[in-house]
Amino acid sequence: MFLRNHWYVAAMAGELGPKPLARTFLDEPVVLFRQPNGTPVALEDRCAHRRVPLSLGNIVGNNIQCIYHGLEFGADGHCAAIPGQADIPAAARVRAYPVVERHSWVWIWMGDPALANPDTICDFHFFTDAKYGSRNTLFHVKANWQLIVDNLLDLTHLTYVHGRTIGNAATTMKAEVDVARREDGVTVTRWVIDAPPPPTYQLFGQFAGNVDRWQIIEHTAPAFVRLNIGSSTTGTGARDGIRVDGINMWNLNAITPETESSSHYFWGQAHEFSPNDLGVTDRIFAEIHRTFCEDIEVLERQQQMFDYDPTHKMLDIRADAGPNAARRLLTAMYEAEQQTRRAAAE
Ligand code: FES
Ligand SMILES: [Fe+2]
Repeated sequence: MFLRNHWYVAAMAGELGPKPLARTFLDEPVVLFRQPNGTPVALEDRCAHRRVPLSLGNIVGNNIQCIYHGLEFGADGHCAAIPGQADIPAAARVRAYPVVERHSWVWIWMGDPALANPDTICDFHFFTDAKYGSRNTLFHVKANWQLIVDNLLDLTHLTYVHGRTIGNAATTMKAEVDVARREDGVTVTRWVIDAPPPPTYQLFGQFAGNVDRWQIIEHTAPAFVRLNIGSSTTGTGARDGIRVDGINMWNLNAITPETESSSHYFWGQAHEFSPNDLGVTDRIFAEIHRTFCEDIEVLERQQQMFDYDPTHKMLDIRADAGPNAARRLLTAMYEAEQQTRRAAAE
């Protein structure tokens, strides 16, 4: 199940240059490159002539040139040159995808181009706003995109998977959890009041005793999950919005489906307690990187079991309220999109 009429992250800005980059999104092969003036371009990665991947070719001026017989295609997907032939047939074109560069990422629109409105791109300003120290990266995960969304919406797993960094017993046992459905996503709010900080929080917060910990998880369809997380000394009013001492961070996730069983997982970490200290930013990033590697291991093994028997019935427990609310919303959005497609085809 893929939702097409959405912006997805295609690449980190630094990945795109004068060399073509091949990447599959929503089961479609795409080639990405930059024109000499820096403009990002995304085209179907299949030459209109004999189907050779355009990503094997070279950038010539503003166009990409197929490596096989030299046909050139421009940013709009139209063939710009056929060697030895003056007339260019109308069918000589490949699909061009709308692309926008924003907040250190290059975004692609995989659906109906007429609906591509850059104003609807999910906000990841944390990566370009000097108010925050931040760093981001990309993982390739051999797991379905919804399994990653589930993972981020149910943080009881921190106790069991991430006991060395961001999880402890209180993360599951003492959490007060609220799940709220919005029009475009789900918000899960978790508070763990008067409990010991987990190892990573203690490392950066140097707390003298127990803390109040917040995990405010904002999921936006299809697969953007922005978490505001942190803790401060217990009883100092964190829950009332007073976060005077302690640490306040954002864990920022954008998952782009590659296939039904693999994903491009763009994520990063931002903090505001010492934004200009690169050492702090790097150390936080390293902690979360190590933490996410633990997730990837679980997610990929989980996907293998889905592949083994996709119909096997799963058990629901109370902790699934957030993930299940998101799944219901995404299924409804998918069905609405399919209905629109069918109506347009009639
Ligand atoms: S296959 Fe691309 S030019 Fe022939
Ligand atoms: Fe995790």
